[in-house]
Amino acid sequence: MKTLKTKLEKKGVYFSTKLPSHPQISKILNIQKTTSKGIMDLSKSFQSSSPRKKEKINRKLLSSWKEQSKHAQYNNKVSPLVICDRKLQQYPEVNTWLKNYPVYFVSAGEKLKNIDFFPTHINKILKISTHKKLSGFISLGGGSVGDFTGFIASVYKRGVPLIHIPSTWLSAMDSAHGGKTALNTKEIKNIIGSYCFPKAVFIVKKLLYQTGREKGLTKASTHFEKKKKQIEKAKGTLPFLSEKEKKSAEGELVKIALIVGGTFYKEVLKKYLIKKSFSHLDLWLLLPQAILSKLKIVEEDPYEKKGLRLLLNLGHTLGHALESYFKIPHGQAVLYGITFATHWSHRRFTLSPLFLKEMSFFIEKQKKLAFYFRKIPLPTLAELLLQDKKRVNKDRVNFIFLKGSGRVFVEEISVQKIIKEVQRQSFL
Ligand SMILES: NC(=O)c1ccc[n+]([C@@H]2O[C@H](COP(=O)([O-])OP(=O)(O)OC[C@H]3O[C@@H](n4cnc5c(N)ncnc54)[C@H](O)[C@@H]3O)[C@@H](O)[C@H]2O)c1
Repeated sequence: MKTLKTKLEKKGVYFSTKLPSHPQISKILNIQKTTSKGIMDLSKSFQSSSPRKKEKINRKLLSSWKEQSKHAQYNNKVSPLVICDRKLQQYPEVNTWLKNYPVYFVSAGEKLKNIDFFPTHINKILKISTHKKLSGFISLGGGSVGDFTGFIASVYKRGVPLIHIPSTWLSAMDSAHGGKTALNTKEIKNIIGSYCFPKAVFIVKKLLYQTGREKGLTKASTHFEKKKKQIEKAKGTLPFLSEKEKKSAEGELVKIALIVGGTFYKEVLKKYLIKKSFSHLDLWLLLPQAILSKLKIVEEDPYEKKGLRLLLNLGHTLGHALESYFKIPHGQAVLYGITFATHWSHRRFTLSPLFLKEMSFFIEKQKKLAFYFRKIPLPTLAELLLQDKKRVNKDRVNFIFLKGSGRVFVEEISVQKIIKEVQRQSFL
């Protein structure tokens, strides 16, 4: 675990219990810090000097102070802008930390990424920038805030530095890494975007652990969860990440484990088998390896030119369509997508019985998937599939198949073929 974290630090990913300090941020963003070293040296020699020399030193000290205060003023005017999920204001630590920076509060969610509202946001940000010289942007929030902030950082003055502080498991595990930014149009999710590789990503345990729910919630405790939320709201105490947010990360974790295979896959499978879900502690322990695995793929194919990065879309082709239509959590939709890809891969290439058995623990119930398939009109599904960014031409998309853990590959396939397979799986 320690060596993994050291490896990640070299790649700009820092794990910590607290939000990053002001000097840490300044160093990363290369904000000039005034040094008082010269003044200190002068002050030291002042004690042992003759009266004439003391006078000379006094003059020097005065001009240094003047110089320093000029810099201090300048430094005050140069700062990164924090784009922060307004929900996080409820955490006292976040609130204190935010006092160091100008902040633009946003409401998290897909609406934030809607391109129709982008001009309003950018105009407000430009207004802030008339008072402060913006040296970069820091996103503090989940994946929607990260995608939005990343996009702004990539277009503001043709690109300024970006730092991510992810506050959901999904963003800590996936969206904060890899440099993809995205906005949505009314019809198509993530269709507008850019690459903006963050200078640093700070994974802050406290932000992710806000539920403190090590045991994880079962369906039966949903009532308890609602009650607790009401009580906490009434008391004005902290919000916490819901099970839905945790589930979203689980889909991405299973996906990356399947792609890399080997011992990581075995470890993820073993942890999952115990509770049929991951606890916060499981996610925290598996996080470094999941991030490192994603970064290795991204480093080899940062702009998705070699086909390697496409593998990260395992489960996403169908997953995105179901997510858009049924408004189900991203991770759950990805798990359905992986279920579909597994059944289809088995039909086409015959998967090993052991792998199939293992997958039956992981993947969502086929019956539930068949239920969704019967509810979505097939022409609508075809339309949604064709909106996929992995579309290669008029009616074909890149689809990720798998032959085993660590053995995933891309194949160009027609949407008609996907629809045929959906029809087949509707009756499984
Ligand atoms: N760029 C990428 O590579 C990439 C990859 C995967 C997903 N995404 C994008 O990420 C987004 C989904 O991310 P998300 O699930 O983090 O969503 P989100 O940002 O919408 O956050 C989900 C909810 O959790 C709340 N929240 C955030 N942090 C919290 C905390 N610490 N405590 C309590 N509540 C908190 C938010 O207010 C929101 O209500 C989607 O827009 C998706 O397209 C991007």
